[in-house]
Amino acid sequence: MDLYEYQGRELFERHGLPVLAGGVATTPEEARAIADRLGGRVVVKAQVKVGGRGKAGGVKLAEGPDEAVARATDILGMDIKGHTVNKVMLTVTADIAEEYYFSYLLDRANRTFLCIASVAGGMDIEQVAAETPERVAKVAIDANAGVDEAKALQIVEAAGFPAELTDQIVPIAVRLWQAFVAEDATLVEVNPLARTTDGTVLCLDAKVTLDENAGFRHPDHEALVDQAAVDPLEQRAKEKDLNYVKLDGEVGIIGNGAGLVMSTLDVVAYAGEAHGGVKPANFLDIGGGASAAVMANGLEIVLSDPAVRSVFVNVFGGITACDEVANGIIQALALLAERGETVDKPLVVRLDGNNAEAGRAILDGAANPLVQRVDTMDGAAQRAAELAAAGV
Ligand SMILES: Nc1ncnc2c1ncn2[C@@H]1O[C@H](COP(=O)(O)OP(=O)(O)OP(=O)(O)O)[C@@H](O)[C@H]1O
Ligand SMILES: [Mg+2]
Repeated sequence: MDLYEYQGRELFERHGLPVLAGGVATTPEEARAIADRLGGRVVVKAQVKVGGRGKAGGVKLAEGPDEAVARATDILGMDIKGHTVNKVMLTVTADIAEEYYFSYLLDRANRTFLCIASVAGGMDIEQVAAETPERVAKVAIDANAGVDEAKALQIVEAAGFPAELTDQIVPIAVRLWQAFVAEDATLVEVNPLARTTDGTVLCLDAKVTLDENAGFRHPDHEALVDQAAVDPLEQRAKEKDLNYVKLDGEVGIIGNGAGLVMSTLDVVAYAGEAHGGVKPANFLDIGGGASAAVMANGLEIVLSDPAVRSVFVNVFGGITACDEVANGIIQALALLAERGETVDKPLVVRLDGNNAEAGRAILDGAANPLVQRVDTMDGAAQRAAELAAAGV
């Protein structure tokens, strides 16, 4: 989960990192109240989960509360790379002398953690990294050893930070690492880490990504989720422990196993090209050993998507035998009817693998008019796409 800058700033503050006083506003009037409280010049910053806000005009200076209101009015509602600005953060200004870059991240390729640091930070860091990579230091961090004072000194040296700032940057490097570990982050990035004209080092931006797989260790992280941005279907699926991702097509997809579901998406998208460009409406992996109840929950989520015109249930029997899945589908449809759900969209079911023949016989025997059996993946995808196109 990516955090907004204001959430990252608060997280930094809790971990003892030097940040500037600030506040977050959703209306120009709230921005005025914050500017009044902060006093003097302020920076108004768009809160969107995308980089390059400054260059897109989402970071502006304001001389006082009136200007802060004007800048907040400009920035709120702005579109930055497809992200609508719903919040602005206001902070006091810093007199910046130099801008540095500092981050810790998970380095998956090398199975370790990495510190990236540069004295050439600021809004052009991507260009610096591309054109003068020697100005960007990369220091591997051993997960067990972490970043202590000695390691922090090594980073300071590798990056070439000014010697007179060592006393300030070393504790920042250590605390930022402690924050990274304590919060189970996969990225903490400070750009700019700024030196002000009076020689103080400050974190002027905060980009943080938290590892959702560690969410169970952090009940407080739940409050950081932007509820307004959560898809309601994904939310309901999550409550039912389903692996569901909303997509923007018309063919509902249910399968067992992430790999099979991924390839089902491809096959359906391909088949859809011949049927007016219909596409998969979702990813849903009900996993191996799916019971009738899990199938019912999956069907309920997929069928409640108003964009769905047909559903493709693609199951390869492995540990779970196809006859159990077939029974599960029939029971699931009955369960949904009992719950008072209207099920009126056609289901194309492909069963293969363990006990496929028995599963197909069960589907045929049930003779549910909504269920169509097609025994190949390509054939079933074709049929589901055709039905979706006909139902549009
Ligand atoms: N408190 C501040 N006082 C003075 N200048 C600031 C302050 N905060 C940011 N700036 C200036 O604005 C620039 C852009 O700010 P910031 O780094 O937060 O946005 P950004 O880098 O464009 O966004 P992103 O990091 O999401 O790409 C900084 O490089 C810095 O020069
Ligand atoms: Mg930045």
